[in-house]
Amino acid sequence: MLNPKIQDALNEQINAELYSSYLYLSMSAWFEAKSLAGMAAWMRIQAQEELLHAMKFFDFIIERSDRVALTQIEAPQTEWTSPLEAFENALEHEEKVTGLINGLVDLSLAESDHATNTFLQWFVTEQVEEEAAAQTVVDKLKLVGDNPVALFMIDGELGQRTPPPPAAPPA
Ligand code: FEO
Repeated sequence: MLNPKIQDALNEQINAELYSSYLYLSMSAWFEAKSLAGMAAWMRIQAQEELLHAMKFFDFIIERSDRVALTQIEAPQTEWTSPLEAFENALEHEEKVTGLINGLVDLSLAESDHATNTFLQWFVTEQVEEEAAAQTVVDKLKLVGDNPVALFMIDGELGQRTPPPPAAPPA
């Protein structure tokens, strides 16, 4: 059994991951409207990954014989002024999520919940990758500035991203 503090905190993280998915799907829609199909595809895949993150928390709570309680998901932003602003927003968001994951790790240590602590280690590593991926795109977009040819080259490159494999149901 999870203790109630941990259970509530993990349930809140499901909401945070679903919000992340919603935010990136909103960015994908915005990129589609700007005819930047590669960036739209990249964000769509990112939204799928966030859904998988939410499901990892969902399944972990269920595995510990505790209750998942889904709550309302906040509406995401729908407009950005430039691709750079959108990816900067994505990076800021990932930094915020890293803070949330670190907070959960701190809580698991404070509550001596070693199973939850072990479960969270995957997310600690994942957040390093998440921040690095967004940072790489921000850096590239800063380099090209307003050059439309270079922007379309980056768009083509980001369109090569492959989707994550579907999540296996818990054993
Ligand atoms: Fe679920 Fe992008 O962190």
